[in-house]
Amino acid sequence: MRKKVTKAIFPVAGMGTRFLPATKSVPKEIMTLVDRPLVQYAIDEARAAGIKEFIFVTSRGKSALEDYFDHNPVLEQELRKKNKDDLLDILKGTNMESGAIAYIRQHRALGLGHAVWCARRLIANEPFAVILPDDVIAAETPCLKQMVEAYEETGGNMVAAMEVPPEKASAYGVLDIKDDMGSIVSVNGMVEKPSAEEAPSNLAVIGRYILTPSVLSNLNKMKSGAGGEIQLTDAIAADIGTDNTVYGYRFRGQRFDCGSKAGFLQATVAFALARDDLRDDLMRYLEDIQQIGKAAE
Ligand code: G1P
Repeated sequence: MRKKVTKAIFPVAGMGTRFLPATKSVPKEIMTLVDRPLVQYAIDEARAAGIKEFIFVTSRGKSALEDYFDHNPVLEQELRKKNKDDLLDILKGTNMESGAIAYIRQHRALGLGHAVWCARRLIANEPFAVILPDDVIAAETPCLKQMVEAYEETGGNMVAAMEVPPEKASAYGVLDIKDDMGSIVSVNGMVEKPSAEEAPSNLAVIGRYILTPSVLSNLNKMKSGAGGEIQLTDAIAADIGTDNTVYGYRFRGQRFDCGSKAGFLQATVAFALARDDLRDDLMRYLEDIQQIGKAAE
């Protein structure tokens, strides 16, 4: 029997400069898609995959995240008095049991690999997940759950993967494919942010990982890589060919890059259109502006 994956790391230390001025005082992860913060989507996905311990790697200015996951007795009492059970239920989804959530500070922005390494003592000797809340994935079966199921078969390290247009590959970690078995691929190598000539394929790593503790040992020895940062990709790649080899997992679902404004807007529209209470109005609006656009041409 494989050890179950019950811990997840959420690296949320980034300054979110692409969303300034909003992120001057609000952590990027609290920005909302429709009415739920980005981080809530990540937590819901983790819970659906069986995660019980949530480890946030934060930085200065992120205390709003701690408040978000805390109980708010005054607000709850107010809602109870007014019999707003539906809102109370929504609030319940944001609460964390005592001891289920931990916050670790990354004191310097040394890269994603370093952020994950900051959580090493809380992970100890177990497999663990990493979720990058910027990558929001709409899926019938949540992406991490799909991966946990696949991982039960393969073991090793597993990264979510998706084909991207070749000219975009240099924005990602990219897999060098060894055996392509459909939804699962085994890999020969991984390159972080390769140049167009270096990219071994256009199968890109997306922000969901199931990793073995050996990746944390690799990070102990890691020097800075692409962009002068300590790269998680390099630490995972160092396991290729060992007992903890690396698999890519082509998930079923639609990924939105909510680290970019365009991706964030697309996710907002997609999630709003998926909502019964918003679909009709929004659809009408989108049709109207399309007509106006056409008339102006
Ligand atoms: C990070 C990872 C990269 C991965 C990407 C997915 O990069 O380093 O390997 O492909 O997330 O979103 P970032 O987007 O933080 O530069």
